[in-house]
Amino acid sequence: MNDNKPIINWYPGHMAKARRLMQEDMKLIDLVIEIVDARIVRSSRNPEIDKLAGQKSRLILLNKSDLSEDSENQRWIRYFAEQNIGVVALDARTRTQMKKVVAAAQEACKEKIERDKRRGILNRPIRAMVVGIPNVGKSTFINSFSNKTVAKTGNKPGVTKGNQWIRVDNKLELLDTPGLLWPKFEDPVVGMHLAYIGSINDDIINKEELCMHLIEELLVRFPHALDQRYEVNCEGKKPHEIIEMIAIKKSCLIKGGEPDVKRMANMILDDYRAGRLGKISIEVVE
Ligand code: G4P
Repeated sequence: MNDNKPIINWYPGHMAKARRLMQEDMKLIDLVIEIVDARIVRSSRNPEIDKLAGQKSRLILLNKSDLSEDSENQRWIRYFAEQNIGVVALDARTRTQMKKVVAAAQEACKEKIERDKRRGILNRPIRAMVVGIPNVGKSTFINSFSNKTVAKTGNKPGVTKGNQWIRVDNKLELLDTPGLLWPKFEDPVVGMHLAYIGSINDDIINKEELCMHLIEELLVRFPHALDQRYEVNCEGKKPHEIIEMIAIKKSCLIKGGEPDVKRMANMILDDYRAGRLGKISIEVVE
């Protein structure tokens, strides 16, 4: 396998437009809720959010924490807490953490709430902008938390529209924004990790190559994840041999009985994305 990390960059025009819109809307809000993927906390944080958010209060939601290791989630929580950044681990498909998120939002905005109180303004809801890269679960979070189905603020040209306000309860209002990446990933590992979790348009990716890199990373911390899922033995094998072996095992073959490596690579990536290889944190606190 070619050891070079694939160079992946994806910054379609509608994201530049969304960024401008976000910049304008910053004036309207008290809090920036940044949703990241708990499996790749570092790579799923858009560095531009720091610039855009300026001095606004911040809250980080480690979403899809059902797909990452509990011990690593705890370490990330400690990591952000030590920097005085509010953080909640979440599975956005359920409402179980709703109270915790509202409480964390209030804690992050406590100075503003105090200021309001002194001015006689009581119970004004916190206005929060929900930001995050594509596919981290922004729509899922907003739908669960507002308890209704809100049309997706699209990641694709054509579905992108003005950002919309959604009232969660009398304490919190959310402003939905489209998924936003940034123009260039300085470190190729970032683009690769974003591609693992499906935040990069799959059409621009060589999924066979991507899958080999994923396998290489899995073998380091989770040497038996593939063995268990596909009932094979990966020991001593190279990533491309592993894909072939799994393809044969799963009878994923092309005409003539050869392993269908392309289709199998796709299936392995899908299995990882859906958590079928287990709870796997790709990036851990260092
Ligand atoms: P986005 O707005 O940030 O782009 O993300 P979106 O909510 O569309 O979520 C992307 C995918 O991630 C969806 O799955 C969604 O169900 C899933 N998801 C969101 N939050 C969580 C979570 O906390 N845990 C897990 N396990 N999955 C989560 P999908 O397969 O693309 O769509 P669907 O088939 O569920 O509709």
